[in-house]
Amino acid sequence: MSKKPVILGIESSCDETAASIVTENEQGIPVILSNIVSSQVEVHKEFGGVVPELAARAHIDKIDWIVQKAIDDSGLKSEEINAVASTAGPGLIVCLSVGLSFGKSFASAMNIPFISVNHLEGHALSPKLNSKLNYPYLLLLISGGHTQYLSVKEIGVYKRLGTTIDDALGEAFDKTAKLLGIEFPGGPQIEKLAIKGDPNKYQLPKPIFNKGGCNLSFAGLKTAVLKISKNIKNEQDKYDIAASFQKTIEDILYKKTKNAFNEYEKINKFTNKVFVVAGGVAANKKIRSSLIGLCDENNYKYIFPPIDLCGDNAAMIAMVGLEKYKKKKIDGLDYPAKPRWSLDESAAFLKGSGIKY
Ligand code: KG4
Ligand code: ZN
Repeated sequence: MSKKPVILGIESSCDETAASIVTENEQGIPVILSNIVSSQVEVHKEFGGVVPELAARAHIDKIDWIVQKAIDDSGLKSEEINAVASTAGPGLIVCLSVGLSFGKSFASAMNIPFISVNHLEGHALSPKLNSKLNYPYLLLLISGGHTQYLSVKEIGVYKRLGTTIDDALGEAFDKTAKLLGIEFPGGPQIEKLAIKGDPNKYQLPKPIFNKGGCNLSFAGLKTAVLKISKNIKNEQDKYDIAASFQKTIEDILYKKTKNAFNEYEKINKFTNKVFVVAGGVAANKKIRSSLIGLCDENNYKYIFPPIDLCGDNAAMIAMVGLEKYKKKKIDGLDYPAKPRWSLDESAAFLKGSGIKY
């Protein structure tokens, strides 16, 4: 049996401190040997969002033992690790710096290569951790900080087809949750409350629904929910708002994904139709089933990461590190933290007011 590379992945871009050891089997399929995630939800919940300074401190407190635990749980010794991959961006610079510096120091001390990883690339390739996935494919990336449709040609080669012009989808879920008195991060709670509510009770806006290709907008929803939430009288009203919000999001994603299919097919003629949904919001089961229905209608094969690998984790970072290592894409120890780092650097910046379609 040939010796397969063993990669230590480190993630600290936002409010999760994570480390993982990943290798691959004889067929070249990634194998997760350990995957440790320490969430800071308790640290930030009283503030209703992530406080960068507190997040960085929590990363510093935990990173040593998280990495040690990932190594111990893998059953391997530090000396058996062939390379270290750390998230270098995008994210909060004070948080990124913790995992990046730790990874560089580890690589330097062990005299092994260091590899920088784009956090979004981790999400983009995360379905490879449990499915065979060939390039190219259409990706919908829905997380707390990003919402994009991308045509993924191969590792490192992305074409953005659409993006949010204001809030990210996870942010829209969290803001709606906050208005309903739910602690951060409220996305998963909205999904639960929605089950008990009437999805047709409130008509919420669907910004740029019939224009803008597969670009998206969610800011108008927050304003509408704010108005309605002033008249909440009982728990059932909250369930109905959650259900109406969830249903509106499903409608928007259904329509915009259909547009994204068209855009994708224009640039990927004669290739397999494969649709991947990744990022924290991809854990939402109702969104999954609505998009699965759309795929069935349009002959697309669909692939989702396992629910526990939708949110931030280091297995996806180690796995990107593994692919880069095999392609000899190694970085220097002077590689900088990149708070802004898009997958398609050529795509226009669309955020902000005054965007016209
Ligand atoms: O990918 P992720 O863990 O972190 C970022 O890179 O942003 O995504 C976190 C986001 C949060 O906004 C959270 O509320 C949302 O994903 N989220 C969900 C669900 N699970 C997590 N939103 C809706 N439904 C869910 N089940
Ligand atoms: Zn993420």
